[in-house]
Amino acid sequence: MKELSVDVKNILGLQLPSDPRWVNLAELQLDEILTDHAYCEQKAATTCISLITKNSEKELLVEELPHERFLDQMLIMALIEARSCERFKRLSEGLDDAYMRNFYRRFMESEAGHYTLFITLAEHYLEKKVVRRRWAEWLKYEKELMKEMEVRGDRIH
Ligand SMILES: [Fe+2]
Repeated sequence: MKELSVDVKNILGLQLPSDPRWVNLAELQLDEILTDHAYCEQKAATTCISLITKNSEKELLVEELPHERFLDQMLIMALIEARSCERFKRLSEGLDDAYMRNFYRRFMESEAGHYTLFITLAEHYLEKKVVRRRWAEWLKYEKELMKEMEVRGDRIH
C-alpha cells in the first residue's frame, strides 16, 4: 500500500478525514464500492429531477418549497458528493495499481464537480452567507456522524 501523498483532511471543507483503514478494506471489494456509489448518485439525481419536475418554472423552485428545506436538500447532496470525492481521492492515492489510481482520480474530479453544482444551485436561489452558515452546520454534523460510523469497505460512506 502506498503512503498517502496529501493530507485530505480539509477537502471541500470536510471536518474529519476518512479512517485510513477504509482504503485497505475498500481495495478488497471495489465492485461493492462502485455499486454503493451508483446508488448514492441515483438518489441525488432522482431528488433533483423530482424537484425540477415538481417546480418546472425555475423561479418557482424555491418559492414552493420552504427555503430551509430546499437548502437542506441541496446541502445533503453536496455532503454526499464531498465525502465521495474525499474517498475517491484516498483510492486515487492509496491503490497500488496505476491504472486504478487514475480511474479513481477521474471519479474524484467528477464528485468535486457535483459538489460544486449543488452548492452553486443553493447559492443561486439563496443568500451566500445563509448557505455558508448552514453548510458549516452540516459539516459539523457529518463529522460527528462519521465518528460514530463503523468503517466498512463495501460502502462509499
Ligand atoms: Fe456524484
